[in-house]
Amino acid sequence: MAIPTSRAKEPAEISVNADLCNACGLCVAACSDFSLTLENGKAVKSNHPLFGCIGCGHCMAVCPTGAIEIHGRTISPDDLFTMPPRENLANYSQTLALLQRRRSIRKFKNKTIDTEIIEKILDAARTAPMGLPPSDVNVMILDSKEKTRSFAQDFCNYLGGMQWFVSNWFLTIMKPFWGKANDEMFRGFIKPLFKIYTEGMQEGKNLVNYDAPLAMYFYGSPYTDPADPIIAATYALIAGESLGLGTCMLGAVHPLIQNGKKASKFRETHGIRFKSREGLFVIFGYPALKFEKGIRRSFADINQI
Ligand SMILES: Cc1cc2nc3c(=O)[nH]c(=O)nc-3n(C[C@H](O)[C@H](O)[C@H](O)COP(=O)(O)O)c2cc1C
Repeated sequence: MAIPTSRAKEPAEISVNADLCNACGLCVAACSDFSLTLENGKAVKSNHPLFGCIGCGHCMAVCPTGAIEIHGRTISPDDLFTMPPRENLANYSQTLALLQRRRSIRKFKNKTIDTEIIEKILDAARTAPMGLPPSDVNVMILDSKEKTRSFAQDFCNYLGGMQWFVSNWFLTIMKPFWGKANDEMFRGFIKPLFKIYTEGMQEGKNLVNYDAPLAMYFYGSPYTDPADPIIAATYALIAGESLGLGTCMLGAVHPLIQNGKKASKFRETHGIRFKSREGLFVIFGYPALKFEKGIRRSFADINQI
């Protein structure tokens, strides 16, 4: 067994075509698993890999003669593509301008998002560095405001049956286990959020996902590094911005649909395949608000040692 993910448990297969190998050693240098070595002037599989080939494809991508093929763990030589030329890349000031212009948008024009745009967002998000290949990130897509509203409605109904989770007796019992910060978060944020979401929905206001014409939910599996869905969601958000869409991350749904039978039923109803440690919604739409000013942000701390 190699490093397991929900999609692969075995190592990928490395093959080196000795006739094409020019012994440049780039594959050996690129492989952080030490799966390759040079022997008698040729790259060969080493007998001391760390975990076994995880199928990152680095050796195949760096090889200047096409001597290496990786098969398995969902990767094959068909996955290689020629990199876009350097002169096509956004430079730092263009990238910074895109990032500086982004504001979280929660009011959208009544305009649907074309399938091609959705594909473009997914194409960009798939390039995100996601832990161990093959990526264990799943994406659930709601591609109309009717679908986001229906999801939000269902979520609010589900919260209605989960009131005990934010009841004073439950929070008092849990405080010694999950600590002061969690207690404060639940009392000051999650408990009022239940009320805001459910009462808002009763009044016809969707404060869960704002009736966005597109929502993507990035989540993992029991195997996934918790960072992976978040990184993919961030890439999707930036791609959405570059396509002229307003975007906003939504963190509140994921943690509330992880534990218990009702959560499991809710996930099943909405085609969410796994529970996972982290997950994030990103909503997209043509912004109904225009911002003239950005807001300078800070980190909690930068400690350069
Ligand atoms: C992990 C995460 C979760 C978030 N969850 C929500 C949410 O549930 N609802 C919401 O309206 N905004 C949510 N936001 C958006 C933040 O409120 C927003 O990023 C913040 O106010 C800063 O504003 P800006 O994104 O315009 O800079 C979330 C942002 C992040 C990064």
